[in-house]
Amino acid sequence: MVTDEPRSPGPELRVETRLAVLGRGEHRPGQPLNVPLVPASNFRAPADGLGEREYSRDDGTPGWEALEELLGDLEGGRAVCFSSGMGAIAAVLELLPVGARVVVPRDSYGGLRALLADGGDGGRWQVHTVDMTDPAALAEAVPGADLVWLETPSNPLLEVVDIGEVVTRAAETGAAVAVDNTFATPLLQSPLELGADLVVHSATKFIGGHSDLLLGVVVAQRQHDHARLARRRGVAGATPGALECFLALRGARTLALRLRHAQDTVGELARRLQAHPTVARVRYPGLPDDPHHTLAAKQMAGFGAVVSFEVADAATADAVCAGVQVISHATSLGGVESTIERRAKLPGQEHVPAGLVRLSVGCEHLEDLWADLDDALGHAAGPTWSRHGAGTRPVIDVDLPAGPPTDRG
Ligand SMILES: Cc1ncc(COP(=O)(O)O)c(C=O)c1O
Repeated sequence: MVTDEPRSPGPELRVETRLAVLGRGEHRPGQPLNVPLVPASNFRAPADGLGEREYSRDDGTPGWEALEELLGDLEGGRAVCFSSGMGAIAAVLELLPVGARVVVPRDSYGGLRALLADGGDGGRWQVHTVDMTDPAALAEAVPGADLVWLETPSNPLLEVVDIGEVVTRAAETGAAVAVDNTFATPLLQSPLELGADLVVHSATKFIGGHSDLLLGVVVAQRQHDHARLARRRGVAGATPGALECFLALRGARTLALRLRHAQDTVGELARRLQAHPTVARVRYPGLPDDPHHTLAAKQMAGFGAVVSFEVADAATADAVCAGVQVISHATSLGGVESTIERRAKLPGQEHVPAGLVRLSVGCEHLEDLWADLDDALGHAAGPTWSRHGAGTRPVIDVDLPAGPPTDRG
């Protein structure tokens, strides 16, 4: 058989190119350009002995492997995909010995904190929550830790933690460092290069990019951790779906393009929001006066596509969310469509200001997004608003569902 193996696309290729060319399977004439969707649980066994691929929960599928090849390359390590971001996070925590001490940031995804709280109640680990933007608090918390968990920028306060600084402190006492890189994406921040042991993504968000799948990934610096994570997936069964991997890989092909457009838009939206009379505070590390700007500029190659802003109170924030028409009032983030949500309405978000609205910016035109936001903010501020000579739309009454029991994106 004639083979046409290309030069292996190494780090000398730029990231846009790697996104396009990696995870393509065999380079042989007649093979499809995209690794086909293989919805298989089992594969034919050899005449004797154990085959390399017999059962997908243990042995994987071509689709997982293609996605892992790309994500491992982007993060500079070895990737293991899971059924969701939470599946990936749970697998990392399961690597810890019973009674381990885990240090987590004050602001982080609520699902992580719910999982840690459940395990903490059962004595599985001890959890220490700290403000990691405070060097003194960090210096006190890290000694004796088994794992330091970072989420930077954080969901939803967009706090930025100095990964290199945490890695240095953790190395002094032998703690492992894991970074949830979901908001930054592999394109804007490289935690493994900064010395972290593990990187986690909810690939549900920017990597997939189309709000049509749930998927998670852990990328390990060391072979040993990779092997333990892959075993964990096999024995615990949080395997990624075939369709989800296919879609995530297809979505990832355009990650650089989507992100570049969204970042340009969000930067300008953040500036306009800052000047808006209804907005009390904007949190976006790309703003020069944001408290995290200097660190983010040093640590990241861009500031991401999520902005949070605060209005007077919960009722005003709910009215903004209910008032937008181009932007979707929906949880989650990282899709081609912009989404907006008042985060403090969710349980476990007591530290989040009641009037904080998180906006994930997608691929729409800046001016359409701004007109939508400006209009919703104006109406939320009160019936006298008439920036566009509007003022005819009624102020919206918001009926919140009673006590949602779970955490969401
Ligand atoms: C920062 C972050 N990490 C992890 C997760 C969990 O990911 P998933 O919903 O894919 O389980 C989320 C979900 O919103 C998130 O925002």
